[in-house]
Amino acid sequence: MKRIGIVGCGAIGGFLAKRIDKEFRKTARIAGLCDIDRKKAALLAGKLSKRPPVLELDKLIKASDLIIEAASGSISAKICKSSIEKGKDVMIMSTGGLLGKNRLFRLAREKKARIILPSGAICGLDGLKSASMCKVKKVTLTTRKPPKGLRGAPFILEKGIDLDSITGEKVIFEGTAREAVKGFPKNVNVSAILSLAGIGANKTGVRIITSPEYMVNMHEIEIEGDFGRLVTRTENMPFPENPKTSFLAALSAAATLKQILEENLRIGT
Ligand SMILES: NC(=O)c1ccc[n+]([C@@H]2O[C@H](COP(=O)([O-])OP(=O)(O)OC[C@H]3O[C@@H](n4cnc5c(N)ncnc54)[C@H](O)[C@@H]3O)[C@@H](O)[C@H]2O)c1
Repeated sequence: MKRIGIVGCGAIGGFLAKRIDKEFRKTARIAGLCDIDRKKAALLAGKLSKRPPVLELDKLIKASDLIIEAASGSISAKICKSSIEKGKDVMIMSTGGLLGKNRLFRLAREKKARIILPSGAICGLDGLKSASMCKVKKVTLTTRKPPKGLRGAPFILEKGIDLDSITGEKVIFEGTAREAVKGFPKNVNVSAILSLAGIGANKTGVRIITSPEYMVNMHEIEIEGDFGRLVTRTENMPFPENPKTSFLAALSAAATLKQILEENLRIGT
């Protein structure tokens, strides 16, 4: 029975807690829930069949074999460090918070703990990982989002871009993943995981395009290397409880958990 602690009881954390409570109850139990808003954690605990305790971060880590972070990029590196320091495995959803924190990967190796990063809202990481066994020349992410998905981003505010005046397709940003992380922190997870799996944040290219006609968040990935060329496109439905999060991101976390808990057959790279 794997004891799982969940940090962040919003859309993804809540979705995973309910899945563990029902589908994975034979192989896992929730050791505790944690949220900066204690009431949210208590509310979620009350919806589960075996009401798990609401714990502070340190106690939650102590009580768990696997910690799942689904909280915020501002705290994901701290949760990652505190977990692996105690030799505990950790699954991180706010991947953006790990960019530039390579020492955490070294620490995990020393402590024999695992850092697990689900693919989230994109497809193509399997191919990128295979391609990276040889030379990869180019990795580009093109994200298409409706204007409301970009509202409030530091880059938009800094450049004084009036999103309401945009009538057709418009390229809003072109740069490296490292620059995108700064300008569009809400987009950071996708570009961060792509950078970590491939050629790094300074070489991974990012383009952000908007149009009032877009109905879904779309991520296109283009990879070129010794293997050839790979193109993927993901058209993401928003998660009902949090439209900023793609449904596929929560599903990728559940699929990763299933693999950890139940699968003896591993499919894909
Ligand atoms: N990897 C990906 O592709 C991907 C995709 C979507 C979302 N995400 C990331 O996953 C995280 C969770 O997404 P979500 O849709 O569930 O968000 P959400 O806003 O629905 O839920 C986040 C929860 O975490 C809590 N929280 C915030 N800061 C906290 C802190 N410092 N300590 C403890 N709890 C804290 C909030 O109170 C909230 O309940 C976000 O950081 C999001 O950016 C990653």
